[in-house]
Amino acid sequence: MPTVLILGASSDMAVALAQKMGSSGYNIQLAARNVTRLRPLQTDLSIRYNIVSTLHEFDAEKPEGHPAFFSSLPSLPDITICVFGYLGDQKLAESDWKECERIIRVNYTGAVSILNIVANACVAQGKGTIVGISSVAGERGRQSNYFYGSAKAGFTAYLSGLRNRLFHEKIHVLTVQPGFVYTRMTENIPLPGLLTATPVYVADAIYKAIGKKKNIIYVKWLWRWIMLIIKSIPEFLFKKLKL
Ligand SMILES: NC(=O)c1ccc[n+]([C@@H]2O[C@H](COP(=O)([O-])OP(=O)(O)OC[C@H]3O[C@@H](n4cnc5c(N)ncnc54)[C@H](OP(=O)(O)O)[C@@H]3O)[C@@H](O)[C@H]2O)c1
Repeated sequence: MPTVLILGASSDMAVALAQKMGSSGYNIQLAARNVTRLRPLQTDLSIRYNIVSTLHEFDAEKPEGHPAFFSSLPSLPDITICVFGYLGDQKLAESDWKECERIIRVNYTGAVSILNIVANACVAQGKGTIVGISSVAGERGRQSNYFYGSAKAGFTAYLSGLRNRLFHEKIHVLTVQPGFVYTRMTENIPLPGLLTATPVYVADAIYKAIGKKKNIIYVKWLWRWIMLIIKSIPEFLFKKLKL
């Protein structure tokens, strides 16, 4: 049976992805900081879909532990989905380096550290799929979240370069731009219904995009056009906006 590794498995999107992949016959490796919280999901997956799921301690902020984490997996995953992320507190991060650094470490350094290892393993076995969940916040810096946005911008550029490198090895790299999603991360933010997806909707879109070997997806198509407009605003006007 093919296997999928989900990094950041306690997130709402990851739970929906685990259900989607489980219902499609994948065995699942669930990786998160606190694996105890994953036990109900593990039981649910086994009862519903009769698949094997294993639990693994993983902390994006501890790159020194990533090689040992990856080599401890029971098998090499066919698909790796990097879901974890940290929105953080923009206001706090403006004056508190610890918060600012954490945003960078989780969303960029941690993701690059683990995906470098996954990428090299894919090259060695001559196959594999890598999925990275980035953010449209990375497409243009705004005053309300430019630490998170710039870390995601770096991650998007990383995935683009990785796709270019691994294309020649027949390994698929998918970048996901979810737009707004109803999750724990956004529970205190009022979100416009038309532009906001549910975790299940995101999981379905990712599953389809893996099957079609897409390069980049905007989960709700409207976001592609919104970002096109936002990116085309001249800088002398953009800097005056309160975004
Ligand atoms: N929600 C949105 O509107 C939206 C929009 C665009 C992109 N995204 C991206 O989508 C992805 C999933 O986010 P979500 O909305 O599902 O949010 P979420 O439910 O808050 O999930 C964030 C996940 O990241 C994990 N995480 C944070 N720091 C970590 C670390 N140091 N090591 C390992 N895991 C860590 C959290 O683990 P714990 O449970 O241990 O805290 C949690 O599982 C993220 O990459 C996010 O940036 C979200």
